[in-house]
Amino acid sequence: MIEVHNLRKTFGNSKQLVTAVDDVSFSAPDGKITALLGPNGAGKSTTLRVLYTVIIPTQGRALIDGIDTALDPLGVRERLGALPHNAGIYERLSARENVRYFGRLNGLKGAELEDRIEALVQQLDMQKFIDRQAKGYSQGQKMKTALARALIHEPKNVVLDEPTNGLDVMATRALRDIINGLKDAGKCVLFSSHIMQEVASLCDDLVIIAGGQVRARGSADEIREQTGCDDLEDAFVAALGLTDDDDSLDVANQQVRTAQAPFPDDGATL
Ligand SMILES: Nc1ncnc2c1ncn2[C@@H]1O[C@H](COP(=O)(O)OP(=O)(O)OP(=O)(O)O)[C@@H](O)[C@H]1O
Ligand SMILES: [Mg+2]
Repeated sequence: MIEVHNLRKTFGNSKQLVTAVDDVSFSAPDGKITALLGPNGAGKSTTLRVLYTVIIPTQGRALIDGIDTALDPLGVRERLGALPHNAGIYERLSARENVRYFGRLNGLKGAELEDRIEALVQQLDMQKFIDRQAKGYSQGQKMKTALARALIHEPKNVVLDEPTNGLDVMATRALRDIINGLKDAGKCVLFSSHIMQEVASLCDDLVIIAGGQVRARGSADEIREQTGCDDLEDAFVAALGLTDDDDSLDVANQQVRTAQAPFPDDGATL
């Protein structure tokens, strides 16, 4: 279970202050897939970075299974698997070594660890590169390695920052199966995206953010109802402007439309 209460995160100093997240609250329950949806610069990655204990909030708090991310980051990491925005794997190690290292950090060892790695290699179709040095990996290979690393300790909560980034059709389908499998196992899954179609078929709940603030929350149907739009993409764009209609939001809305326009309906999306 993930809870975010009145989260605020600013960067910089008084001369140049950036408010990345501004009083964001939502929860992501166990056994459900929750999507954090918003245009570029909305504050998605910043919110997720607080959750996986890389940064400390300026105000408010985030809880993983009731544990405060700022007060007990190690306790949180035991319960959380995270896929950061930039996969950030060790390039000198192979994928297997990367995943094994994180497994060991999380207390796994011996046959249990090796069996777990093998299961992920099969699930994510990593056989061809698993024992090659990670330097030079393609985007998708890096993403799969980072995903395997996030899931190695079978965490109860999983946070994924734009997980389809760089994945091909088959890898995206595999990822969708994995995410659904996590949900069926009763885990809490939270992932970010800026593409409405990508989340619509997969997630149970949506949290739409823009300009560091929550604009709408609920199931896809509830958001359609709240905005009065039948088409989900229109509902998304309308939700972005629900509480504000200044120029910056018009830019944000434009970014969303631009991001969505060329996206093919080819099964490659989540
Ligand atoms: N370390 C930082 N220092 C200064 N500003 C930052 C920092 N991290 C994020 N920001 C700013 O905070 C805002 C939100 O950024 P964030 O990365 O959370 O957005 P996002 O929703 O993940 O966007 P994208 O879809 O492009 O990944 C942006 O204006 C960004 O420039
Ligand atoms: Mg981001």
